[in-house]
Amino acid sequence: MKLEEMKIVVTGAASGMGRYFALALAEGGAKVAACDINPEGLESLRAEAEGLAGELRTYEVNVANEESVVELFNQAWADFGGLNGLVNNAGLFRDGLLVKKDDYGLRKMSLKNWQLVLDVDLTGPFLCTRELAARIVEAGGAPSVIINISSISRAGNMGQSNYSAAKAGLVADTVLWAKELARYGIRVAAIAPGFVDTPILQGMRPDALNKMLSGVPLRRAGAPAEIFAGVKFIIECDYFTGRCVDIDGGLRL
Ligand SMILES: NC(=O)c1ccc[n+]([C@@H]2O[C@H](COP(=O)([O-])OP(=O)(O)OC[C@H]3O[C@@H](n4cnc5c(N)ncnc54)[C@H](O)[C@@H]3O)[C@@H](O)[C@H]2O)c1
Repeated sequence: MKLEEMKIVVTGAASGMGRYFALALAEGGAKVAACDINPEGLESLRAEAEGLAGELRTYEVNVANEESVVELFNQAWADFGGLNGLVNNAGLFRDGLLVKKDDYGLRKMSLKNWQLVLDVDLTGPFLCTRELAARIVEAGGAPSVIINISSISRAGNMGQSNYSAAKAGLVADTVLWAKELARYGIRVAAIAPGFVDTPILQGMRPDALNKMLSGVPLRRAGAPAEIFAGVKFIIECDYFTGRCVDIDGGLRL
């Protein structure tokens, strides 16, 4: 598929990688339904997208809420006269050890933090993928592509019981959705970034950040543009489905 043929939903588009993806897709001529839970971020994105080759519309949505996701897909499908792409990018983390004993006593990861991360990072992609696939299947099938943003944490990262489970689950679902949906022309693939230079990293203490990046063979964080190179490859390579591409500077080697 070509970028200029895409009518694509990007979740988590108000910040970081999602914002970069939405702008780069619109710059490449795509029609982009940029959605996020943060209305102010969407407003500034809309302003930034003015004059780009494609079209960018914004939608306020909570990907963890079924009603909100159904409404998004009804609206975006109507606005663009159908859809043929989705980047499941919205995500958050609430890190903490499963159990920890220190001077304050015994602490546990709360069920609230477990559930929140599973709701946004796994249930969100499930709902968005289901709603897009349902409309494409109902219309008789069409060449389409779904890209799930996982993480290297899917392998099991200390302090991330919730996030690792969600990001591993997302790669497992990538494989089975690729199998289930291929007959309708829908490809499904994932990207597992390592550390990427977004507000998440920018908020870290410089010494902690340097220590973390020293473990990366390429000795730096990735740029959103380098992760977008993976998104573009998956869109453009019509024979690619069911796989997860690690873009991590060699972190998992
Ligand atoms: N930055 C990294 O180092 C890194 C590494 C690996 C994977 N990732 C993944 O990449 C994706 C983007 O990360 P980022 O660093 O750009 O994060 P970010 O925090 O800059 O952006 C995430 C966006 O998701 C939105 N969002 C959060 N909850 C939402 C909800 N319920 N509904 C709709 N939107 C919601 C936020 O408002 C925000 O705009 C995430 O899935 C993250 O887990 C990031």
